[in-house]
Amino acid sequence: MNLTITQLSNRLNVPMDTIRYYERIGILTNVPRSANGNRYYDDRLQDRIEMILCLRNAGISIKSLKRYIELFQNGSDTLEQREQLLKDQRQTLLKKQRDINESLREINKTIRLYQSGFIRENEADLSDRKKRKLLMNTIDAILQRKSIRKFNDRPVSDDDLKRIIDVAKHAPSWINAQSVRVTVVRGARLEEIRKQHAELNNDENVHTSSVISYDGMDKWDERSQKNMMGWVANAQKQLGESWMKTAGQQSNRLFDAQAIVYLSLPVNYSEWSLIDMGLLAQSIMLAAFDLGIDSIPAFEFIKYPAQLAKHLELPEGELPIFAVGLGYRDAEFELNQLSADRMKSEDTFRLL
Ligand SMILES: Cc1cc2nc3c(=O)[nH]c(=O)nc-3n(C[C@H](O)[C@H](O)[C@H](O)COP(=O)(O)O)c2cc1C
Repeated sequence: MNLTITQLSNRLNVPMDTIRYYERIGILTNVPRSANGNRYYDDRLQDRIEMILCLRNAGISIKSLKRYIELFQNGSDTLEQREQLLKDQRQTLLKKQRDINESLREINKTIRLYQSGFIRENEADLSDRKKRKLLMNTIDAILQRKSIRKFNDRPVSDDDLKRIIDVAKHAPSWINAQSVRVTVVRGARLEEIRKQHAELNNDENVHTSSVISYDGMDKWDERSQKNMMGWVANAQKQLGESWMKTAGQQSNRLFDAQAIVYLSLPVNYSEWSLIDMGLLAQSIMLAAFDLGIDSIPAFEFIKYPAQLAKHLELPEGELPIFAVGLGYRDAEFELNQLSADRMKSEDTFRLL
């Protein structure tokens, strides 16, 4: 249906001046006029304006918008360029989204300080350390921790590494056996491990010999397979086709982790120790998170245990079974934007 500028302005809730402005700067073209000389907007123009408003709402600049419309008018030869322009815009928006999330987190923390009465009591002396102590909320930490696949080059201090392990060792363990051994590697030794890892990964004659055998997707039950496929599809949707290549490159580089915490067990360990190990690994990641340090638990780290055992100077027969990488996230890196969905509680949880 054709609309006058007044009707269009009312329908889209946008000032008439804005509609005229879009025409003046050339992102709205060929606006027809009726016999009495007034502009009218047919379905094609209405669609165009809606698209412009949508892109403007998403924060796209007038300059990029002009470019996009220009490309659009030049037909299907420009499909790739248009896609790229939108991808660039997506990056800008993701960055904005991250900044907003960060601000929201900070605001929520401060609101909690007011609600708890902490500000009232300590207005005169609000050091960061005091705030952090009060604010560490276990549920927040569990919800906010996520696997990081590219760390920046800021090292994790030895003090922090010691603190993380000191805290995490309070994880529960079978009859308090505490059989899991922890070896943390950083600096030059880690670089040697990283170098060898890339070489082994690139050698087609070498295969993983992880202590817990590597199980391809087909080995898992149907429900897990569905989740894994969902994760892969989600990664593809969030990051585009190239995500797998990037993930592979980062795996070769051990995610640029600045410290790796290897978890090993003496030979002939009880299988219950593996449960202890899982609990310990999560405790390590949460303790790290509390100190502002990011992490990733990964099979990738322990793909070649025999070679690693030498670097780690493990006792005869002892092999690393699992590991957690630590460091500070590279906030710009696409793969670090990935957020992994969880199943609906109804699908995993039964309250009997
Ligand atoms: C036992 C185990 C092994 C893992 N191995 C890898 C790995 O080799 N490479 C990787 O990129 N992520 C690995 N992950 C991370 C998972 O993909 C990640 O935890 C999952 O997708 C959920 O995402 P989130 O940790 O960001 O919440 C591993 C996680 C676990 C628990």
